[in-house]
Amino acid sequence: MMDMEHSLKVGLIGCGAIGRTLALAIIDGKAGNVELSAICDIDEERLESLHKELGRQEIKKYMSPFDLLKVPGIELIIEAATRETVKDISERALEMGKSLLVMSAGAFSDKDLYENLYSKASEKKLKIYIPSGAIIGLDGVKSASVEKLRRVEIISTKNPRSLEGAPYLKKNNIDISHLTEAKILFQGTADKAIEGFPKNVNVAVILSLAGIGVENTLVTIVADPKARLTKHEIKAEGDFGELHGITQNYLHPDNPKTSYLAPLSAIRLLKKISEPVQVGT
Ligand SMILES: NC(=O)c1ccc[n+]([C@@H]2O[C@H](COP(=O)([O-])OP(=O)(O)OC[C@H]3O[C@@H](n4cnc5c(N)ncnc54)[C@H](O)[C@@H]3O)[C@@H](O)[C@H]2O)c1
Repeated sequence: MMDMEHSLKVGLIGCGAIGRTLALAIIDGKAGNVELSAICDIDEERLESLHKELGRQEIKKYMSPFDLLKVPGIELIIEAATRETVKDISERALEMGKSLLVMSAGAFSDKDLYENLYSKASEKKLKIYIPSGAIIGLDGVKSASVEKLRRVEIISTKNPRSLEGAPYLKKNNIDISHLTEAKILFQGTADKAIEGFPKNVNVAVILSLAGIGVENTLVTIVADPKARLTKHEIKAEGDFGELHGITQNYLHPDNPKTSYLAPLSAIRLLKKISEPVQVGT
């Protein structure tokens, strides 16, 4: 996508927990040969606060993602906002010749959206990058998917504080604020899990994209009042054998729904884009 001298010009949509971590990492040179051209947030306070923290007047700022898309020279749009934002802006971004890095990967449980964006990116010779997020094991699942994968499963255990406000809990009148023991809240497939917990199980959709799809990937969500970390346990079985991986994530200091490893995975992916050697599947 780029040579070593060329710096990749990016625009960031969403200045929350992930967006801020990413922007600061880019400025600090942790994301490789990447230049932050513009940032955007519909929340003016967050936008202004990050802009000030970055301390670079040349970085443009916008409250509308569509205005950010018009900035000349931006080659890659980083989405770190919401699933709805992915639905709203992705096609336009690709039509305007910009690749995408998508954090709200849960949006891709919508197969029509995913297939449409896949073919648009392919037609325009652009890329859609989806970082690994807060899980280990995607490399193994991707390799294994070359042959038959029989079962892929993720068990996510979170403190109730990280699950607050999930539509599934509201819909089913489940109160987890006074739990004293761990409780299984949900068992089902990834497409249903992301509808019920849109801010909590992006990783289940990412795992599905790497493996056997949202309708076949099994998800269990557990609320544990004693859990200080967010735990994602992945199991897969197939022609390759079996894998079992556990990630214990610190919560992002700015957002308990987000694991700190999620923005780190995006920073590392940005670096990978500009590196001549690519390690891992
Ligand atoms: N891929 C992963 O592993 C992973 C992990 C955690 C979170 N996420 C997802 O990444 C996204 C960002 O997470 P976060 O923790 O930074 O959330 P956050 O709530 O801290 O920040 C999101 C920001 O986006 C802004 N925003 C919302 N709609 C916007 C729009 N249309 N245009 C511009 N800005 C908009 C909000 O005002 C907010 O400042 C969420 O969708 C979250 O579910 C993904």
